[in-house]
Amino acid sequence: MNALFDLHGRLAVVTGARRGIGRAMAEALAAAGADIIGVSARLRDDDEVATAVRRLGRSFEGHAVDFADRGAVLALGAVLAGRAPDILINNAGTIERAPAATHPLQWWDRVIEVDLSSQFALTQLVAGPMLERGSGKVVFTASMLSFQGGINVPGYTAAKSGIAGVTRALANEWAGRGVNVNAIAPGYIATDNTEALRADPERSSSILGRIPAGRWGRPDDLAGAAIFLCSAASDYVSGAILAVDGGWLGR
Ligand SMILES: NC(=O)c1ccc[n+]([C@@H]2O[C@H](COP(=O)([O-])OP(=O)(O)OC[C@H]3O[C@@H](n4cnc5c(N)ncnc54)[C@H](OP(=O)(O)O)[C@@H]3O)[C@@H](O)[C@H]2O)c1
Repeated sequence: MNALFDLHGRLAVVTGARRGIGRAMAEALAAAGADIIGVSARLRDDDEVATAVRRLGRSFEGHAVDFADRGAVLALGAVLAGRAPDILINNAGTIERAPAATHPLQWWDRVIEVDLSSQFALTQLVAGPMLERGSGKVVFTASMLSFQGGINVPGYTAAKSGIAGVTRALANEWAGRGVNVNAIAPGYIATDNTEALRADPERSSSILGRIPAGRWGRPDDLAGAAIFLCSAASDYVSGAILAVDGGWLGR
């Protein structure tokens, strides 16, 4: 393995690790040598991600926390800060679909809390020891809707646009202190998050027809970007939002 991408001896926190993109990222970091602390709403010690990470010879510790519960997120942050991880991937996220004109405000509030506010609250705590030590990697999961408006998902678009801003804000303050803050913006990836789009023949074919790569993304399409942004290979990269989108944004 090229030393630039070697994560042996590193401890990584990956949120949303139970399935989808987070699971793929956790397994990719473990394959590169990192031990993993996984977090998600319903994570259990015998979930597939735990087994896969251990099969790779790395340790896995799981925490089940609802990111809609601010108190629980703060308590988790304190526990994780005590473990002084080298890497934090803020990937857990939810989505609610309804037209803007009738979008329930409680959905707006929940999505903003889970996808934006809790991400900042957790990062503040977990990055504390990184800043003291003078090294660390923080990676957010952004979205195409960090750049575009989306359809029927105003809260999600607001949250993911906010994540782009938080990425740059933290990068500005922390790049000089040895902590790299960046984001990965996945394109349209086949996970539970996009199930409703893929089930709608019209949306599904219009999305597919606009992806230059000619296919939906798979969770493991995010593996390389995750390893890059969590490794020494990206030591001079800060405030970047790396699109992994089959060319969607370039179109
Ligand atoms: N799929 C795409 O096309 C796409 C594109 C751009 C960005 N993203 C972003 O990528 C990230 C991962 O999404 P995905 O596509 O992998 O979706 P997914 O398969 O639905 O996975 C979402 C993950 O986030 C966790 N999560 C959801 N709500 C939570 C809450 N209230 N508290 C704690 N954890 C919670 C889930 O936990 P449980 O498994 O325990 O339920 C799950 O592990 C999200 O931030 C999403 O917005 C996805």
